Formats: sequence, structure tokens, C-alpha cells
Amino acid sequence: MVLDDPTVIAAVEAPPPLAKFTRMQEGTAEDWRVIGADFVRFTSKLPDRVMTHLRLLDGDYGGFPIDRLTHSLQTATRAAKDGRDDEYVVCALLHDIGDTLGSFNHPDIAAAIVKPFVSPQNHWIVEKHGIFQGYYFFHHLGLDRDMRDQYRDHPWFDSAAEFCAEYDAPAFDPAGETFSLDEFEPMLRRVMAAPKQSIYKPVPKG
Ligand SMILES: [Fe+2]
Ligand SMILES: [Fe+2]
Repeated sequence: MVLDDPTVIAAVEAPPPLAKFTRMQEGTAEDWRVIGADFVRFTSKLPDRVMTHLRLLDGDYGGFPIDRLTHSLQTATRAAKDGRDDEYVVCALLHDIGDTLGSFNHPDIAAAIVKPFVSPQNHWIVEKHGIFQGYYFFHHLGLDRDMRDQYRDHPWFDSAAEFCAEYDAPAFDPAGETFSLDEFEPMLRRVMAAPKQSIYKPVPKG
């Protein structure tokens, strides 16, 4: 096979196959083989899209002493240096990734992104961190800093409180140690390599 072989060039330049249906009701197994093959390609690029979205936080200060990307990196750095495992550190890295599109509910965005790849406990921490972080500033805005107390009896209350106290709330220091996004990239790719749970994950036969 040579690279200037016309059949090779035609194969490379051929548009990707597409499903034939115009209504999903008419979809066939072949249609879904085509879509399924592309789904594998598309999902393999998820970490790239997450990296791109994290970079949208670069230079976005929102009045804070450091921009949102640096805050995310510093939160993850604090968790990593504290010996937390990859999954936890990736949650720390992504916990504010929803600020751009979920400006009124940013923890929900991050929680949805990490959900297939992390434990229910880590997912809960990310999902609730906005309420728990509020303990440190809601009272300055006329809000209830004890909003987290609605979860006081929850088994993961202390874990969420700890995440904010140890990693999120202290991570606004312009002089604070902050690893680069490149340093976290291999860890992000490892954690997001395959989902632990998803409605699209085949059920084992048996
Ligand atoms: Fe947050
Ligand atoms: Fe944060």
C-alpha cells in the first residue's frame, strides 16, 4: 500500500458513513452500527473537550483574586499534594467547570460531567460544593451561610465540608502553589478513559 494509491486517497477522503433514517422510528441495526462506531470515536475525545472547556476559565476573574482556571488548578493542586487519589483530584479540577454555562447552578454542570467516572460520594461532593462553599460567604450577601445544614445528617456531609474547607475555599491565593493544566492532563485522561456507570454501558450477559 502506498500513500499516493488512488484507492487509498479515495478511502481517506470519503465522507464518514451516516445513518439512513429520517425518523428514529425507522432506524435499523445497520444505522445504529454506524452511529455506534462514531460514538466510540466521539466519546474518546471527551477529555479533549473537557480540557478545552477548562481553558475557557482562563482569564475569567469574576472579581476574585485569581482567575477561575487558576482557582480550579489550585484546588486540584491542594488535593493532589494532600495525597488524594486521581478521581478526587479530577473532581477538584473540574468542580467549577460549569461556571461558563451554568452561571446560576455551576455545581450541577460539573457533577453531570464527572458522574459516569467517579464514585457516588465524589459526585455528591461536586454536586453540593456550591452550598457547602456558601458557609464561607453567603452571610456577606444576605444569604444563609448554614444552608448546608439541610444535609447535616447525610453520611457525606463531612466529606463535602472537608472538600470546601481544605481545597476549594483556600484556593484563591495568587502566590499559592498551582500545578499547570498540562500536569493534570494524564490524570484527567485516566479517570475519563471509561465510564463506571452510564445508561449507554452494556449490561453484562449472564
Ligand atoms: Fe464552585
Ligand atoms: Fe471553587
